[in-house]
Amino acid sequence: MLDVYEAVTSRRAVRGFTDRHVPREALERVLSAAAWAPSGSNIQPWHAYVLTGGPLAELKKRAGARVVAGDAWDEREYEMYPPTLKSPYHERRSAFGKERYSALGISREDWEARQRAAAANWDCFNAPTALFCYIDRDMGRPQWADVGMYLQTVMLLLRAEGLHSCPQMAWSVYRRTVAEVLSPPDGLILFCGMSIGFEDVTVDYVRTGRAPLDETVTFVEG
Ligand SMILES: Cc1cc2nc3c(=O)[nH]c(=O)nc-3n(C[C@H](O)[C@H](O)[C@H](O)COP(=O)(O)O)c2cc1C
Repeated sequence: MLDVYEAVTSRRAVRGFTDRHVPREALERVLSAAAWAPSGSNIQPWHAYVLTGGPLAELKKRAGARVVAGDAWDEREYEMYPPTLKSPYHERRSAFGKERYSALGISREDWEARQRAAAANWDCFNAPTALFCYIDRDMGRPQWADVGMYLQTVMLLLRAEGLHSCPQMAWSVYRRTVAEVLSPPDGLILFCGMSIGFEDVTVDYVRTGRAPLDETVTFVEG
């Protein structure tokens, strides 16, 4: 069994999966344990849907058709990022984009190739399983943070099962298509999708870095 440090450091956003089936029992183990994630007043504000087989194929087909048609994105229910990202976030985001596309051999100017790479999101990077996480519309920022803790717990537990994942806000721009397949109750906002499966180790990637500790952590000591 992985220890917690190994689970944390071996998790990364994997963007290439094999067709290998993800056992339902593994998903149930992961989601049962992830339910122990903390939340303010234990309100557990997450609503997760797990999609496999025919329903996931249908979703990928519908989303893929929208990509091909150049369909406009659904109107946003939340902003993914502030309209202007100030320093140091802006620089970190640019560095990420550069690393990601250079791993794929795509230049900065090749807008079409970038679009094609982004479109892989809506094929779940070939993953055979996807999770969609909703939150009630009237929840506030602390509850969105609770959902984040839940999702990270899911991703770490997936590592213990030999599985990988990629969290995907990209699905929020096709949220209507997701809703056609899932029929969630009114009043929920789709926060993100998450591709889940076994890694395709033939897919190239560049491991993301992190800011040095003293950029993000301040020790105040007596
Ligand atoms: C909430 C959230 C949404 C994300 N959305 C996407 C996405 O739509 N597509 C994608 O390829 N990666 C997405 N990512 C993955 C991030 O790009 C990735 O976590 C980050 O670059 C750090 O890299 P690492 O996870 O490999 O360590 C998302 C991550 C988070 C936490």
